[in-house]
Amino acid sequence: MALAPQTFDPKDFRRALGMFATGVTIVTAHAADGAPVGVTANSFNSVSISPPLVLWSLAKSARSLDSFTSAGHWNVHILAEDQVDMSNLFARAGEDKFSGLQLDPSPSQAPLLQACSARFQCRTMFQYEGGDHIIFVGEVIGYDRSERPPLLYVTGGYALAARKSEPVSTEPRADTGSALFSEDLLGYLLGRSHFQFVGGIRSTLNERGLSEADFFVLSLLSVQAPLSSSAIAGHVAYTAIDVGPVLLQALCDRGLLEQPQADSFALSVRGRDAILHVLAAAKAEEADVIDQLGEMEAAMLRNLLKRLISITDPGLPKLWTARTDS
Ligand SMILES: Cc1cc2nc3c(=O)[nH]c(=O)nc-3n(C[C@H](O)[C@H](O)[C@H](O)COP(=O)(O)O)c2cc1C
Repeated sequence: MALAPQTFDPKDFRRALGMFATGVTIVTAHAADGAPVGVTANSFNSVSISPPLVLWSLAKSARSLDSFTSAGHWNVHILAEDQVDMSNLFARAGEDKFSGLQLDPSPSQAPLLQACSARFQCRTMFQYEGGDHIIFVGEVIGYDRSERPPLLYVTGGYALAARKSEPVSTEPRADTGSALFSEDLLGYLLGRSHFQFVGGIRSTLNERGLSEADFFVLSLLSVQAPLSSSAIAGHVAYTAIDVGPVLLQALCDRGLLEQPQADSFALSVRGRDAILHVLAAAKAEEADVIDQLGEMEAAMLRNLLKRLISITDPGLPKLWTARTDS
């Protein structure tokens, strides 16, 4: 069906195209005048495996158009999820995009950027007219990849990839029935994942005779100390555990805390030793989980948990930024 010009809304068309999730690339070349050029492009796609071909398209309005149409080679960099700043830099017209950037040696003179998810070094095979863009098809003459999770772009914004639990399969699927409603409840999922995760360090806590409340106080004071009793209570308020003077006094009596001044608490040498052991066990547990999740989904999980924490934050003091006792 042809789109009637009077009803065609380019912005709406762009929004519909934005439903197609892509990665983000930077394509670079060496201009005839010797200057490096580069643009952020999400129009990149694979074309053929044998021979290995890829494509991308560049707006005819781009300043770098002449450089790309006359360059015989270009490099495509699939950006990693922590390269948003670089994506934004190369999406700005006419900036000195390469100053201060570390480059790798490239067989062609096209700049080769570092720390990406994957890189493809290409030789121009074809150039096609594509409306207000030029389509470049390149033969891949070299490539490499890393384990860095890729950056995505969808509905006009950057995103991270989350893998679905269902595998890619062309086999006919048996009906597995629908999951119980309660299994999808966020509260259940968060609670269960918390308790299973903490369960991994419970034996270390038990060995040291530490309760969960002791653990919260000691780990807090390993990040920020000294703190007053009210500051400690404020920081661990999210756990709903009441950290009162009795608990703090008991920790002092056991030699795990010391009081540099009245109503001021810090870890003793013994307390520091105890919490370092527990934190080491927690790190090992985390490393195991990340290993099984993979870096990409671990980054995704951290991102979502941080968002959930900030959405539900009732106004707790900031542990990692505020360094003074209040
Ligand atoms: C995520 C993202 C994807 C983009 N994809 C393309 C693309 O595929 N083709 C294109 O011509 N411009 C694309 N752009 C816009 C260019 O990066 C931008 O116009 C750039 O300034 C062109 O550089 P130049 O004018 O210095 O040549 C994209 C921008 C962003 C932020």
